[in-house]
Amino acid sequence: MRRHISNKEVVLAVTGSIAAYKACEIASRLIELNAKVTPVLTRSACELVQPATFEAITGRRAITNLFGAFASAEIEHIAVATRAHLFLVAPATANILAKAANGIADDWLSTALLATRAPILFAPAMNSNMFAHPATQANIETLLGRGCHFIEPESGRLACGTVGQGRMADPMSIIEAALPLISGDSSLAGKKVLITSGGTREPLDPVRYIGNRSSGKMGRALAIEALARGAQVTVVTGPSDVALPYGAETIRVETAMQMAAETLPRAQDANIVICAAAVADYRPEQTYEHKRKRAGQSLTLALVENPDILAQIGAAKRTGQILVGFAAETEELVANACVKLKKKNLDLIVANQVGVPESGFGVDTLNAAILDRDGQTTELPLIAKDELAQRLFDRMALLMAQ
Ligand code: CTP
Repeated sequence: MRRHISNKEVVLAVTGSIAAYKACEIASRLIELNAKVTPVLTRSACELVQPATFEAITGRRAITNLFGAFASAEIEHIAVATRAHLFLVAPATANILAKAANGIADDWLSTALLATRAPILFAPAMNSNMFAHPATQANIETLLGRGCHFIEPESGRLACGTVGQGRMADPMSIIEAALPLISGDSSLAGKKVLITSGGTREPLDPVRYIGNRSSGKMGRALAIEALARGAQVTVVTGPSDVALPYGAETIRVETAMQMAAETLPRAQDANIVICAAAVADYRPEQTYEHKRKRAGQSLTLALVENPDILAQIGAAKRTGQILVGFAAETEELVANACVKLKKKNLDLIVANQVGVPESGFGVDTLNAAILDRDGQTTELPLIAKDELAQRLFDRMALLMAQ
């Protein structure tokens, strides 16, 4: 992910909505991802947030008016508009949507929006009646028709006290929607990527289950990376601690049987299937309808085997389809993973160490090796899950090109 947007130029335009303060978080997330961010604040935005805050976060002067810009040698709105890889207008008021839809150029931002050929992403934020108004909706239609991108506002309690649709999407979702636009990487455009993620829970009774420590962080990193390369992404996820990216179709399940039922049919027409879920290999033979009481003696549970989703997809694999698995191991990483790669008919497998503090379930890093179908093993240093996702997709690209 980092490489995709490193040094890419993003214009973060903040307009006069109460949600303007949330743009600080957007700016700092973009900087974390090594993007170069030019903050732009309209006159109304300056009433709500300070340009200095954005200058401190981005390390660049905030642009606040059209004519102050002539202090520099370049005609700034044209120069910035030309070098931008993305214009992100967050929050976007009804006013900026109306101006952009009608080609009005009466301040820096509206002028630059006409001058740029970069993709434009609007994150509207306004009162729900203003958002639903036919004028605003018509402006959005016009802008969509011209190829602009939108991230829908959420429903909820708004600053004005009413409840309805109009609250700006959360900053993380905005970043995720922005990533593929900034990266300009469309190598997986038109390709379907199916990911299993999280852990499964196998119920014993209404309150207890057999589960595992999977957080879903790896699945999330894979989904973001696939989206950043322009893929159509579906994630079938067990209960998980992390939010999945906006832009991926998310199917929530609880048990291994449910995961199999949702995943197997979808695998048939997927170009890439990545099974990152920690699926329970066994489930209780019997699930009790009522909570089991302590009976004053030891208890033996009978378990039955769950279907192996990855192995079933491997057995039915089409030519050209790429299948990737994970092997969570506590010992003999590479040797154990190699057996699984062959047994399940995989193209790639990630052997990752679990059971140590810095690697595996719940943390952001992994000790891992990537093994491929040609017998090549790449040992990796302790690696962040998002970086591992990037390396895996690079390897998949090589295999797809074979
Ligand atoms: N997997 C799956 N369905 C299962 C079990 C595992 O799809 N019922 C997938 C996982 O998502 C992972 C891979 O298979 O990609 C390896 O899982 P793992 O549990 O390590 O493999 P097993 O073959 O079950 O081996 P082990 O004996 O280590 O449990």
